[in-house]
Amino acid sequence: MRVLIVGSGGREHTLAWKIAQSQRVEKVYAAPGNDGLSEVAESVTIKAGGIEDLADWAEKNRIDFTVVGPEVYLALGIADAFARRGLPLFGPSRAAARLEASKVFAKEIMAKYGIPTAPFQVFDRAEAAKEYIRSRKEPLVIKADGLAGGKGVILPDGVEEAEEAIHQLMEEKIYGDAGNRVVIEERLAGEEVTLLAVTDGKAILPLLPAQDHKRIGEGDRGPNTGGMGAYAPASVLTPELLSTVTATILEPVIRAMREEGHPYSGVLYAGLMLTKNGPQVVEFNARFGDPETQVILPMLQTDLVEVISAVFAGKLDEISLSWRPGAAACVVLASSGYPGSYQTGFKITGLQEAAGLEDLLVFHAGTERKDGIWRTNGGRVLNLVGLGATLPEALEKAYRGAELVRFPGCYYRRDIGWRELQRLQAGT
Ligand code: AMP
Ligand code: GLY
Repeated sequence: MRVLIVGSGGREHTLAWKIAQSQRVEKVYAAPGNDGLSEVAESVTIKAGGIEDLADWAEKNRIDFTVVGPEVYLALGIADAFARRGLPLFGPSRAAARLEASKVFAKEIMAKYGIPTAPFQVFDRAEAAKEYIRSRKEPLVIKADGLAGGKGVILPDGVEEAEEAIHQLMEEKIYGDAGNRVVIEERLAGEEVTLLAVTDGKAILPLLPAQDHKRIGEGDRGPNTGGMGAYAPASVLTPELLSTVTATILEPVIRAMREEGHPYSGVLYAGLMLTKNGPQVVEFNARFGDPETQVILPMLQTDLVEVISAVFAGKLDEISLSWRPGAAACVVLASSGYPGSYQTGFKITGLQEAAGLEDLLVFHAGTERKDGIWRTNGGRVLNLVGLGATLPEALEKAYRGAELVRFPGCYYRRDIGWRELQRLQAGT
């Protein structure tokens, strides 16, 4: 089979790595890909790079199926464009991807079908939103309806900050039309966990629960980033809680999408808050998580191509997944200054040495190779994934790799997996 992966980061490198292992796969392409994934896939530059251009390319190059990383393509309807030409693509249609692309849509589906989530109100006028904020005493969360590159969610400290957020989203339009409507919801307390599930629109296969680390600073402080690390499995989602999530969240939402006439297939990302009243949905994403994918796929023993083919055939109910024992941990090496402004072009050394370590995988997120020299080319530069019989072992492998790889200004968090480590110490 010939496979195309759309996207360019560490998540896509991991997808390419996993798919290239399949006996059934002869060649993997990534558009646009990155220099770092060249060992497992060929990066292709597709002129213009719009969804029709990608479909043209896939058709011409006899691609058997396509996997999409970033949400923007799904929100633009890449699945619909491919479907019109009979090209198999793993990912939801534009209408189904609204579970991620429109917070209002997602919240309204959850409200209609009784899926646990924070109580909310929707506003399309700034004045009404501000008035509502002034009338509330409890901590709130403000969310731009549309996609805002992961920046559209604000947890304001008090009324003034909340009103300012509304001003920026709805009046200044800092994220454009994404701020035409906002969701204002109650703030939930608890521990967050990510659960990805593969679905063909009927059957649902949950993957290993994972936890990511969104904040730049240790102890989960400081500004949000695209993700500074992750680990799997996250034992906080116990088998019992997983059954609850499947019964109260995954099954109802997949059924809801079918009933609404927008069957959902692909991977569904459930961002969950484990509250004292049970698991609640913080967000849905219509795709693989980044960097959760970097720890989940290395744990998966089953051929991902078998899983994806079963989705295309509508036979996911015939598949069961097997996982390697132990744990995986991902440490993200970032450029100094990220998630604010940062410089690129710094020489990276130690990649060869790191590649020689056992139980360490190196996935590239923002690198470039010129004249045989690796250089930084993004905010998040490399993902070092350690595998071990336990999380501490997996972390040790990842951090050993992190010490070998160097570039000026390299920053990484040293506390990846801290919640799980605390649990292990407490013996819970
Ligand atoms: P999102 O972009 O929807 O993932 O939201 C970003 C982050 O905001 C989440 O990962 C949570 O940490 C936080 N968040 C979103 N909604 C809520 C909520 N209702 N209560 C508490 N935290 C939230
Ligand atoms: N890890 C968060 C996300 O993929 O959106």
